[in-house]
Amino acid sequence: MTRQSLLTVGKGVQGHARRGMVLLMTGGLYCALALFNGCSTPNPPVSSLDAVQPKTIALDQAQERIPDADETVTVVMDAVYQARKRYRGFTFLRLLQLRGYDPAAASWGTVVQFLCRDGYNPFASLESLVNEGAFLATGDLDAPTGETWIPFAYGSTRRDPGQFYLVWPKANSPADRHPWPYGVNMLRIGTPETLLGPALPKSARFQQGFNRFRENCMMCHSLNGVGGTIGIDLNLPRNVFEYWQADKLPAMVAKPSSFRRNAKMPDFDRLGPQAIAEILDYIKHMKAYKAYPVP
Ligand code: HEC
Repeated sequence: MTRQSLLTVGKGVQGHARRGMVLLMTGGLYCALALFNGCSTPNPPVSSLDAVQPKTIALDQAQERIPDADETVTVVMDAVYQARKRYRGFTFLRLLQLRGYDPAAASWGTVVQFLCRDGYNPFASLESLVNEGAFLATGDLDAPTGETWIPFAYGSTRRDPGQFYLVWPKANSPADRHPWPYGVNMLRIGTPETLLGPALPKSARFQQGFNRFRENCMMCHSLNGVGGTIGIDLNLPRNVFEYWQADKLPAMVAKPSSFRRNAKMPDFDRLGPQAIAEILDYIKHMKAYKAYPVP
């Protein structure tokens, strides 16, 4: 049975910041962070999560393992399986600590983005991940002998959530609103400004719409390059309001399947017309603020 492994730590998402990301294991970690921070102290204290650039934690099985990592957890209501589940793995907090980060030292509002192999890239607050005991599962304790996971139905196929699968042990509603990404292979941690900057609204009037967009849409869609890649970027090169009939968009977001056969986008009618209107007002607002990501 595989024990998870970790990985590489560095900060920065741009290529130039990646040099030095490998071989940061064990004693190398503090050193490498010191290098990134442009500081020559060999043993700086626990690293701050606040920085000009987001921190990146790459989860990669080929690298070193977390020592004694196998903790187990019971999940009251798993949002993917819609059942009570038991997993092995490690808490998100433990991952941070092993990487030398102290969440208590992070600024309020620190955000974590999970990057998955299929382009699903949701965000969660550092506070919720730590306080609610979010857990990175590396295996299903009830899988048949010799197997790590129990596959779940996905359309007409079956998938498994490995590895790593983010679960929320205390969540107890079938319609839980936390992100439950599977196939996670990288995390980014930063302030809202560093992680979400180009997608942030330019006026406080649209903040609520943005928050809803981030919670419901951004795991699949990017805006100005920030977000997931399962759906399209909703502002680049053209904002959806530049080519859709604006009066059709609320109905399409509420029920994509009523516009498109085989739509991959789920229905959002449960959000209600008011929330959908706020989200769309935010998207429209961003039409005047296009920003292309640096390649
Ligand atoms: C699970 C991923 C997913 C989520 C979540 C999601 N979408 Fe989509 N969206 C898609 C995909 C994929 C398409 C392309 C059409 C299709 O397959 O349904 C799409 C299409 C669209 C389109 C049409 C774009 C075009 O060029 O025609 C709009 C507008 C849109 N989404 C807005 C939203 C909004 C607003 C939300 C949040 C309330 C959202 N989407 C949530 C995956 C998603």
